[in-house]
Amino acid sequence: MTAPLAPRLAVIVVAAGSGTRLGRPEPKAFVTLGGRTLLEHALEGVFAQPEPAQVVIVAPASHRGDAAAIGRRVAGPVQDAVTVVTGGDSRAASVAAGLAAVAEGADVVLIHDAARALTPPEVFTRVVQRVRAEQVGVIPALPVVDTIARRDHSGAVLEQVDRSELAAIQTPQGFPAEAYRAAVTAVVPGAEHTDDASVFAAAGHPVVTVPGDERAFKVTTPWDLRRAEHLVSGGRPSLRTGVGIDVHAYDESQPLWLGGLYWPDEPGLAGHSDGDAISHAICDALLSAAGLGDIGSRFGVDDPRFAEARGEVFLTATLELVRDAGFEVVNVAVQVVAQRPRFAARRHEVEALLTRTLGAPVSVAATTSDGLGFTGRAEGVAAIATALLHS
Ligand code: CTP
Ligand code: MG
Repeated sequence: MTAPLAPRLAVIVVAAGSGTRLGRPEPKAFVTLGGRTLLEHALEGVFAQPEPAQVVIVAPASHRGDAAAIGRRVAGPVQDAVTVVTGGDSRAASVAAGLAAVAEGADVVLIHDAARALTPPEVFTRVVQRVRAEQVGVIPALPVVDTIARRDHSGAVLEQVDRSELAAIQTPQGFPAEAYRAAVTAVVPGAEHTDDASVFAAAGHPVVTVPGDERAFKVTTPWDLRRAEHLVSGGRPSLRTGVGIDVHAYDESQPLWLGGLYWPDEPGLAGHSDGDAISHAICDALLSAAGLGDIGSRFGVDDPRFAEARGEVFLTATLELVRDAGFEVVNVAVQVVAQRPRFAARRHEVEALLTRTLGAPVSVAATTSDGLGFTGRAEGVAAIATALLHS
C-alpha cells in the first residue's frame, strides 16, 4: 500500500488568544455558540472546503487537549490531517508556531482566525485558487460601508477619508507557502505588522484582495457573539425550558428555610440539606432545561459539602453548571403548594432574593390544596418550578 499523498494545502487556525474584549473566563475560541465552540464552528468551515488540507490548530497551552478533541471530532475520517500546537503571547507568535508545524510539501498556506467562526467554505476556495493562479498574497476584503474620518487623540476630526479606496480585511489570508516562510524569517525584529499580509508585503510581494463575506466577521465583543448566535440559530432564539418538583415533609424540630429565607416560628422541613423545596425545585428545573440531569445526580446526597447546605448554595452551584454549559437564565417561575408557612406576606422578599441569586427574574406563587393530599393534610411542602434558558 502506498502512503496517501500529503495535502498541498495547509490551513493554520489561530485560536490561542484569550479574548479580553469578549470578557469570558475561557479563551475566546472555546466559548460556545449555539452549543458548540467557536473553534468547532471555524473548523467546520475549513473542512467543508473541498481540497484535502493539513490543519494546524494553534491553541492556548491550557486548552491543547480540548483543541485536539474538537479537531478530531470535526475532521472525522481525516483526523490524521490535524496538528495541534501551542500559541504565543501575540497573534504573530501564534502564527509563527503554526507555520513551524506546516508540512514541507505544502504549496499554499492559509492563516485563519478561529474568531471568524462562521466564515463560509467558499471564501477559503476563492483565496486558494487565486494564490495558485497568481502566486501572490490573497486576502478577503469587504467594501467599507461607513463614512470614515481621521481624528486626533482629543477626538477632533482632521479629515474624512475617501472610502472608495478602503477595504475591511478578513481571514483566511493565503500565501505561496515557501515565499511566506521566507517573508516571516525576514521580519525586522520590533516591526509592527497588524496582519499576515503586511508581513508578506513587507518582503516585497504583491497582495491582492478577493471578495470576503459578511459572515466572516470576527467575534470580538459580546455584541458580536450575540450576532453570531442569531446567525447560527437562523434568527430563532435558541430557548430551552425545564421543570423541577421537590417535596419535603415538615419536621417541627428543624428551623424553616424556604426560598432561601429563614422563617421564624414555622415548622421546618426534613432533609439531608435544609429541605428548601423551592430552591431545590428551581435547581432541578435549571438542570432539566440545560440537559444536565438533576440535583440528586449532580450534588450527591452523600456529598459532605451539601450536608445542611442552604438552598442558595445549591442555586449558585447549579447556576455555574448551567453557565458552563453555555446557557443564560431567562426567567424562573415557581408554584408552592403548602398550608404553612403563610406565604403572601413575604412573597416579594423571596422573589427578590432568588432574583438576585440567579441574576434573572424569579416569580413565586403559593397555594393550598383545599385540604386534599399530603399538602392539604399539612404533612409537607411541594414546590414546582419551570425555568427558561437561552444559549
Ligand atoms: N490569537 C492567537 N494568539 C494570540 C492572540 C490572538 O492565536 N496570542 C488569535 C485569536 O485566538 C483569534 C485571532 O488570533 O482567533 C484574532 O485575534 P483577536 O480577535 O484579537 O483575539 P484575542 O486576542 O483572543 O482577543 P482580545 O484581543 O480581545 O484579547
Ligand atoms: Mg487580540
